Amino acid sequence: MSKKVQVLDKTFELFIPEARIQEAIDNLAERLNKDLEGKNVIFIAILNGAFIFAADLYRRITVPSLITFVKLASYQGTSTTGKVKRLIGINEDIENMTVVVLEDIVDTGVTMEYILKQLRGYEPKEIYIATMFFKKDAFVKDFPIHYVGLEIPNKFIVGYGLDYDGYGRNLKDIYVLSQ
Ligand code: IMP
Ligand code: MG
Repeated sequence: MSKKVQVLDKTFELFIPEARIQEAIDNLAERLNKDLEGKNVIFIAILNGAFIFAADLYRRITVPSLITFVKLASYQGTSTTGKVKRLIGINEDIENMTVVVLEDIVDTGVTMEYILKQLRGYEPKEIYIATMFFKKDAFVKDFPIHYVGLEIPNKFIVGYGLDYDGYGRNLKDIYVLSQ
C-alpha cells in the first residue's frame, strides 16, 4: 500500500519521493554550473509553482548570478485552461543577459511558449529553460527544454510546489492522482 494524501476532494498517492527529487536537482545544478560559467546570468523563476524548486536549485548554484521572480496566471483544476495572464514582475534590465527560466513543470508547453515570447521582448542574449518536471508526451511545442529534472508521464501530480486548486504545494514528495 503506497502512502496516500487527501487534497481537497481528491486522493493522491506517493509517486516520487523527496530523495529522488533532490538527486535530480543535484544533477541539474552540476550541469548548470558547468554550462553557465563565465556568463552574465539571471535566473527567472515562475511563481507560484517554482518557488520551492528555485530555492533548492539556486542554493546549489555556484556561478555568480542574479535571481528574480515573475508571475503568471494560476492554473485551475486538473487540466490546462489554455488561458495565461501577462508576465509581471521583471524590474531588472535583462538585456544581453543569459536568462535561465525556472519552472515547476512543463506540460503542453503553452505556458512556457507564452513566457518565452514575452521574455524575448526584453532582448536577453539567450534564454535557457530549466524545469523540475516535464510531461514529455503532453508537450505539443517545438522549442527545446534545455534542462529537465525528471520526465514524468501525462498524469496530474501535486507536491513540491505544484498544487491542486492552490493546495498541496507544501508536500515534500510528489503525489499522483489516484485512478
Ligand atoms: P502547460 O501550459 O500545459 O505546459 O502547463 C503548465 C502549467 O500548468 C504549469 O506551470 C503548472 O502550473 C500547471 N500544471 C501542469 N501540469 C500540472 C500538474 O500535473 N500538477 C499541477 N500543475 C500542473
Ligand atoms: Mg506554473
